[in-house]
Amino acid sequence: MAACEIPVYLASEWVIVTYLGVLDVGGTITIHIFSCYFGLGVSKALFRATQQPLHPKETPTPGSDLMALVGTLILWVFWPSFVAVLCQPGDAQHRAILNTLLAMSASAITTVVASSLLHRDGKLSPGHLQNGSLAGGVAIGVVADMAVPPAAALALGSLSAAVCVLGFRFLTPLLGRKLTLHDQCGIHNLHGLPGILGAAASVVAVLLASKDISGSQPSQLSPAGGNASEVVEGQRWGRGVGGQALCQAAGLAVALGASLLAGLLTGAVLRLPCLARPPQRLCFDDSLYFKIQEQAESPGPDSSAEEGALALKEQV
Ligand SMILES: *[C@@H]1O[C@H](CO)[C@@H](O)[C@H](O)[C@H]1NC(C)=O
Repeated sequence: MAACEIPVYLASEWVIVTYLGVLDVGGTITIHIFSCYFGLGVSKALFRATQQPLHPKETPTPGSDLMALVGTLILWVFWPSFVAVLCQPGDAQHRAILNTLLAMSASAITTVVASSLLHRDGKLSPGHLQNGSLAGGVAIGVVADMAVPPAAALALGSLSAAVCVLGFRFLTPLLGRKLTLHDQCGIHNLHGLPGILGAAASVVAVLLASKDISGSQPSQLSPAGGNASEVVEGQRWGRGVGGQALCQAAGLAVALGASLLAGLLTGAVLRLPCLARPPQRLCFDDSLYFKIQEQAESPGPDSSAEEGALALKEQV
């Protein structure tokens, strides 16, 4: 799968960033949207119309949920640096860090509120916290280095977290039923929906940025003025503001189209009989590659899984 994905990813990144000149500092369009819809395409082609029965090990254990929350914390802390690392040092980089932090803070708060509102007893779902608190980081990636007002960054983070949590609650089950789409980790809610939201926000931000620049005072346009970097940005869009907004939308379309097509084809290739697939009973089980401590309460299935894993390894 990686052998198929990486070349197509590189080609689409070249088209989006180099050829179309799309502004996407955090890789929201090139990385998040592309990998999300590539994965969904693979999943769709791999399982076709067959409804996957619920695997007994599919639901997370308290231990795995806790580990995932630790992972969320690490991602949350380092996300601003991930978005800003390739920025021009100086104002743009500072803006990227600040906007990302604002968006993710709004995400975290909105997630807690939305998750508890969705449960009758007001409790929080670990899955929502793990995903929703990062949704703002995905969405802000396209506009992070632009001079967007702080309120807009907060609103974008808030909105993407709400969309993410609602997606888990309503859209994922719906896609599973209507399209028999198997989205195990809810990538569509964390990378797909907030990514599209961020790309749409970038179209708006580009269109509005022009007004700021044309309407600003001459003194603000001087290199020493506060708006210096916006002017540089405006000059770089040689095609004009409308053209740049159009390019942002075109970049989104290229990422969506290329990833879905490549994903579906890759899924079809992975169905070839020569590519061994692990049997269903070994899915969601690490004992094939890791030395797993046996659980005291259920030694039966675990040991049989390990035997099965050994048998499969010999077979391979
Ligand atoms: C998002 O939630 C799903 C389902 O609860 C979980 O499997 C996944 O690890 C979460 N994603 C992140 C980044 O924590």
